[in-house]
Amino acid sequence: MEDVISQIKEKFKSQLFGAQNLKELEVVEQIYFSRKSGKITELMQGLKDVPDEQKKAKGQLINELKDEMLQQFEMKRSDLKKKEYKETVEAERIDVTQPNLPAHKSGHLHPITIVQNQLEDLFTSMGFQIEDGPELESEYYNFTALNIPESHPARDMQDTFYIKNHPGWVMRTHTSSMQVRTMQDNKPPMKVIMPGRCYRNEATDARHEHTFFQLEGFVIDEKISLANMKGILELVAKNLYGPDTRVRLRPKFYPFVEPGVNGEVACFLCKSKGCRVCKHTGWLEIFGAGMIHPNVLEAGAIDSKKYQGFAFGFGLDRLVMLKYGVEDIRHFQGGDIRFLTQF
Ligand code: DAH
Repeated sequence: MEDVISQIKEKFKSQLFGAQNLKELEVVEQIYFSRKSGKITELMQGLKDVPDEQKKAKGQLINELKDEMLQQFEMKRSDLKKKEYKETVEAERIDVTQPNLPAHKSGHLHPITIVQNQLEDLFTSMGFQIEDGPELESEYYNFTALNIPESHPARDMQDTFYIKNHPGWVMRTHTSSMQVRTMQDNKPPMKVIMPGRCYRNEATDARHEHTFFQLEGFVIDEKISLANMKGILELVAKNLYGPDTRVRLRPKFYPFVEPGVNGEVACFLCKSKGCRVCKHTGWLEIFGAGMIHPNVLEAGAIDSKKYQGFAFGFGLDRLVMLKYGVEDIRHFQGGDIRFLTQF
């Protein structure tokens, strides 16, 4: 029996030593101290085969063994408990002396979105509604409905991206494509703006980009005149560039308006003295506009004898360039973080 006892002792010691955590220790506890099947219980049960005169001595031996093992077991348990506690505390510890981690940088609005939002606020405050429309547009809405027939040279001036195997559809060249769509969906009187992304097949340079933004708008009602148009667009220019901003309108041909005008503001960079940006004219072109052509009203199912209207289109990229002094339009789509974080 002494042999068995010393064997158990040795095995127990090595298993106890090997236990890395409280879970593993539980396994050791089961093997040796389980009341039902533990090694100690087994030894105790073995006593019944021992001759009576030896029972007491052997029983004592077993009890001594059990006490010794339990003592070692408890020591190990308390060590492991301490270790695990320390590990948890260590994991949760906050080092108050650690220098600040760099703050997580959140994004912000693109400069074009900033100016678009500003204009949307202004127009909605004057009772305009905002319409959104498709960037992939039918040639009908982009050209034909706007009084630009198939053979018209204006189509060449607005070359764009055509869609393979999808004849009759183009990436819209201007937000004017939304004019007739909006007229068909609504009834006069109407005051609407239609901001959005446009495309052209450009040889890109500092002033031309294949992807850009416009803000289109129109007003249709009875007795609308060029004077109403000038009033509204002057207000927009003053909102953008300050209350002293002067606006001038000069005739310009656009197939979808008659008469058509070019809207210019006095160059606020050189105070109209003439500089590189205004090409020494003292004026900066910021929008196209005009009285909506009767053909366009009719395409929009509006009685051109009863109703008139004016339409206008701002190039948002250009407005932003002038407002912030951006010298190259290609920065807007370039995605360079060094450019974008300046706004
Ligand atoms: N769609 C024109 C362009 O992209 C801008 C424009 C001119 C819009 C005159 C209008 C307008 O509504 O009346 O160049």
